[in-house]
Amino acid sequence: MALTCARIARRARARAPVGTPLTVTGRWYYTSYVTLGFTSEIESREIDGGKIRVSIKKVIVITGASSGIGAAAARRLHTGGHTVVVAGRSPERTRAVATELGADSYVADFTRLDDVARLAADLTGAYPHIDVLANNAGGMFGPQTRTVDGFEKTFQVNHLAPFLLTQLLLDTLIASRASVIQTSSTVRFTKTIDLNDLDHDRHFDAVHAYGAAKLENILFTQELHRRYHAEGISAASFYPGNVITNFGVEATKPIIRLVRRVAANPIGRRLFSTPEQGADQLAWLAEGTPGDDWESGAYYYRRAVTRPSNAQAFDEALARGLWERSQELVSSYRPAS
Ligand SMILES: NC(=O)c1ccc[n+]([C@@H]2O[C@H](COP(=O)([O-])OP(=O)(O)OC[C@H]3O[C@@H](n4cnc5c(N)ncnc54)[C@H](OP(=O)(O)O)[C@@H]3O)[C@@H](O)[C@H]2O)c1
Repeated sequence: MALTCARIARRARARAPVGTPLTVTGRWYYTSYVTLGFTSEIESREIDGGKIRVSIKKVIVITGASSGIGAAAARRLHTGGHTVVVAGRSPERTRAVATELGADSYVADFTRLDDVARLAADLTGAYPHIDVLANNAGGMFGPQTRTVDGFEKTFQVNHLAPFLLTQLLLDTLIASRASVIQTSSTVRFTKTIDLNDLDHDRHFDAVHAYGAAKLENILFTQELHRRYHAEGISAASFYPGNVITNFGVEATKPIIRLVRRVAANPIGRRLFSTPEQGADQLAWLAEGTPGDDWESGAYYYRRAVTRPSNAQAFDEALARGLWERSQELVSSYRPAS
């Protein structure tokens, strides 16, 4: 196995001009990723001066891959030869995307932390190696609703569930030197996050609850980087732009309904991006190499590091506090510390 990979790389090195990207396709990778990883490392070092890069086909888990940005990213990454794992909430939509791609799929409703734990166990059993976890599932919902776990739905689906999923996959992610990517949003209009009122009990507004959750995605990314980058994990969050998807179909706020009406209009839709355009950022981060192509811990928009337009996004104590509070809230699932 190692010989085969080494021979391919040697042949490519002999033929390829300096700077040519070298792609080692996936068949060997599935069967012996450890060997290929080792071989790639040797080949990279040998050809370092020549700047030939070895691009490995990755195992990429995408939540929220049954629709919109996640489905578009899954299609693109599948076309790029990666092994895409489709996770969704709706069994029908999830199956449709997975069948189209010939991909493995998993159904989990993030309003149920038991589902998240089962998803993590299933993924751990099926994939000893995960290169990328894309925490993309999320959305804005209607009036304040409690999940079966007792948390406000927007907070749980957008932050707490992906936090738990990442925690439960941590050993695999560290061993895989994985990238963990969060689909966040613009946080320009997000009001203050209060660690003592993460469920917005004092005052609930669906738009603000959503904004807070997306800011939590950014803080989680930074804290994940601070805690685990030295152990091999890289993390990034991003804003996909305003994208026409199923986003907001469950929202009841008049402003969101108005935006959806504008997006449904042939002229109005020119103001929005397509799911494929929205997925570009996710796919670019997933395919890229942290440290070379992108910076771990950072927030991206249109393939560039961007400063989140919210002062709380730079509050390290808040990021640490959110991590610790989130750990307490999911402690019955015994995540790693
Ligand atoms: N569209 C935008 O303009 C925009 C802007 C900024 C950020 N975002 C973010 O982009 C991400 C993807 O959204 P989208 O725009 O592609 O919208 P979408 O078409 O509605 O996709 C949302 C995805 O999340 C899944 N999901 C929703 N609730 C879930 C739950 N309770 N449990 C598990 N999965 C759940 C959905 O699953 P099912 O389809 O199976 O129900 C779907 O796959 C979200 O995190 C969203 O906040 C979107």
